[in-house]
Amino acid sequence: MDAHAAGPRWWHGATLYQIYIRSWLDSDGDGYGDLPGVIAGLDYLAWLGVDGVWLSPTMPSPDHDWGYDVSDYLGVHPQLGTMADLDRLVARAGQRGMRVLLDLVPNHTSSAHPWFVEARSARGSAHRSYYVWADPAADGGPPNNWLSATGASAWTFDDASGQYYLHNFLDSQPDLNWWEPAVHAEFDAILRFWFDRGIAGFRIDVAHGLYKDAALRDDPSATGPPSRITSHFGLTQAYSANRPESHGVYRDWRAIAETHAPPRLLLGETWVADLATLASYHGHGDELQLTFNFPFIFADFTAEALSGVVARTLAALPAGECPVWTASNHDISRFPTRWCGGDEARARLALLVLATLPGTLVLYYGDEVAMTDVDIPPAARRDEISTAAPGRRLRDRSRTPMPWDASPSGGFTTGDARPWLPLGDHAERNVAGERADRSSTLRFCRDLLALRRAEFGGAIAAYTQLPGPPGVWAYRAGDLVVAANFGSEPAWLGELAGPLLLSTARAAEGADGAAGPGRAGRLGPWEGVITRAGPPGR
Ligand code: NOJ
Repeated sequence: MDAHAAGPRWWHGATLYQIYIRSWLDSDGDGYGDLPGVIAGLDYLAWLGVDGVWLSPTMPSPDHDWGYDVSDYLGVHPQLGTMADLDRLVARAGQRGMRVLLDLVPNHTSSAHPWFVEARSARGSAHRSYYVWADPAADGGPPNNWLSATGASAWTFDDASGQYYLHNFLDSQPDLNWWEPAVHAEFDAILRFWFDRGIAGFRIDVAHGLYKDAALRDDPSATGPPSRITSHFGLTQAYSANRPESHGVYRDWRAIAETHAPPRLLLGETWVADLATLASYHGHGDELQLTFNFPFIFADFTAEALSGVVARTLAALPAGECPVWTASNHDISRFPTRWCGGDEARARLALLVLATLPGTLVLYYGDEVAMTDVDIPPAARRDEISTAAPGRRLRDRSRTPMPWDASPSGGFTTGDARPWLPLGDHAERNVAGERADRSSTLRFCRDLLALRRAEFGGAIAAYTQLPGPPGVWAYRAGDLVVAANFGSEPAWLGELAGPLLLSTARAAEGADGAAGPGRAGRLGPWEGVITRAGPPGR
């Protein structure tokens, strides 16, 4: 398939796949995954049924935050490969009908970026205004109460100039000052550079964070039950992030994205707690096309909680806007651990639901084999932010190497190289083994993606919740009817309306209703089924 043949809104009904490059496939035996490794994995992704990949940061970086501290926005990190590798990756993905999204980090740079090096050289330096500087408070301390991602002050004192600079993450990640028009011009040029090179779009890091309150007002205390999206170490980020001025940036970027055919895709990391705010990042169809839904991610794994977030999301989004469903990423616990406690039946149920909701699905590498979090001994920890943040779960646990096979290196790296993070249970659960087993979760996931592409590809399916017994989430999406039993007791639905297409209990063997639990409408514990809706009025 020609990668650009599927129409201008190719992400509608599509499946994106997040590759954390360092953990995907190591082609040169240094223990770190790389771009040639991504190229080597493309056939697998095409087999799985993926429409596009989002690559974790590819740009040069000192790696205090593994690429989320960029020192050159127009380059490729030498440890991951070369620009020629990236060009080759885009071309080869295109030959397989897949598009490539990069990760863009506009909230902050690395302190090693030439802009910041110059900015901190003197108060009157040319790039000083690219960053957020402020005088000390009256007592000599930080200018306000803002906290960084480690829970410490978000301000670091710069001895040379006698001012503090802002960093919402590590002190090696100074925040850019979006009140400065030159910063806009720099990023407009960065977008154009990559779009012209054939990059299909960006996942935008900290999309809710760009602008900061001009008066640097204190963030208020968080209210309500503590959760990762409502409480930032006890504060609500009302002034240190979430400012309305960021919408203007996305309108400008959307206009740039729309100058290409198909339009380039802007997918925001919108870490916000309420769905009205999430929806606001779509503007009037003129800002981000896609927004990550953290209220869904952090909902309990129950029919009531998940169906409730879905209904509220669909009600909140402006007409025609496309929702995004994802459940794992490199910052949070993987869903087979977080939602499913390592239970494979529940993980299949989660996959079934994720793949049949209307909009865009984003899988995280390993979701398709129900990969779980991995315990990381202190000496093997690599993530500075979560290691420094008291009480935060270690992000390394969800960043471990892809389990390709049962060999000692898991097929991830060559020879005796030591993987940069420890492998998990790859001897029991790996791609090669699951590919060979028709009843595996991997094969089930592939069946789901094939069904999804055939039914939803290029469109946002119409969704209606259907009545069901307590603990069962039943809905119609396009021509599919889904019933998912979120409980450890069997549930009865009555007669299923149409032919059974897929069941979590067993992969489909055809569309004739032969697979799964039969037509009687009994759902086993944690079982989900997909049937085709009967003709209207039947
Ligand atoms: C969100 C990214 O996903 C995370 O990994 C990173 O540490 C922060 N933004 C800062 O860039």
